[in-house]
Amino acid sequence: MKIFLDTANLESIRKFNDMGLLDGITTNPSLMSKEGGNPKDAMEEITKIIRGDVSLEVVSTEYSGMIEEGKRLRQYGENVVVKVPMTPDGLKACKSLSSEGIPVNVTLIFSANQALLAAKSGAKYVSPFIGRLDDIGQNGMELIKEIKEIFEHYKDTLKTQILVASVRHPLHVIDAAKIGADVVTLPPAVLDKMLQHPLTKIGLENFLADWDKLKSGNPDIKI
Ligand code: E4P
Repeated sequence: MKIFLDTANLESIRKFNDMGLLDGITTNPSLMSKEGGNPKDAMEEITKIIRGDVSLEVVSTEYSGMIEEGKRLRQYGENVVVKVPMTPDGLKACKSLSSEGIPVNVTLIFSANQALLAAKSGAKYVSPFIGRLDDIGQNGMELIKEIKEIFEHYKDTLKTQILVASVRHPLHVIDAAKIGADVVTLPPAVLDKMLQHPLTKIGLENFLADWDKLKSGNPDIKI
């Protein structure tokens, strides 16, 4: 399963990219707004740091505006995936951009029907938002299972990837991987939690304390 980071924060992107953990990035207008400044600078920088796919989202809601913005966004790099909302205009833009060879991520997917239609329009990725479904009392992971089951039937012809979005905690990641989702996009805080385990911390403290004991009798010892 590929791991994308769901952020426009350059510091987090650099931090996790240096660990070799990132296959790509997803952003959206809210994430851009959170960072402040001119989003153009962030977009330019992110597409330079990351080799994999970088989803940059349009803000137009009608077809021609989406196409114009999508083409402008693509100028940031060959790795830019144009993110469009799951609307009739979004699907029309998805079809046009995809047939020109520009990859598209259809976002704000909340049902298997929407995922199926976005795939049909040529989307490279469909982004079901599981956390937001959980928030309203629907099981987001059930949607991932359903989409996966449907896409499996057509795997020879349907190349659209399931990008699990709106991830809230590490268990979401485990469950998505068990289902066989293609990609998860994670907020930096979730990736941070996945790295940690209390026994790792305690184990390391004990190793170092024992080493210090050994060193106290032999100060010249070095690894
Ligand atoms: C996906 O691409 C979106 O940017 C994101 O996962 C939305 O997550 P949220 O529901 O935490 O805002």
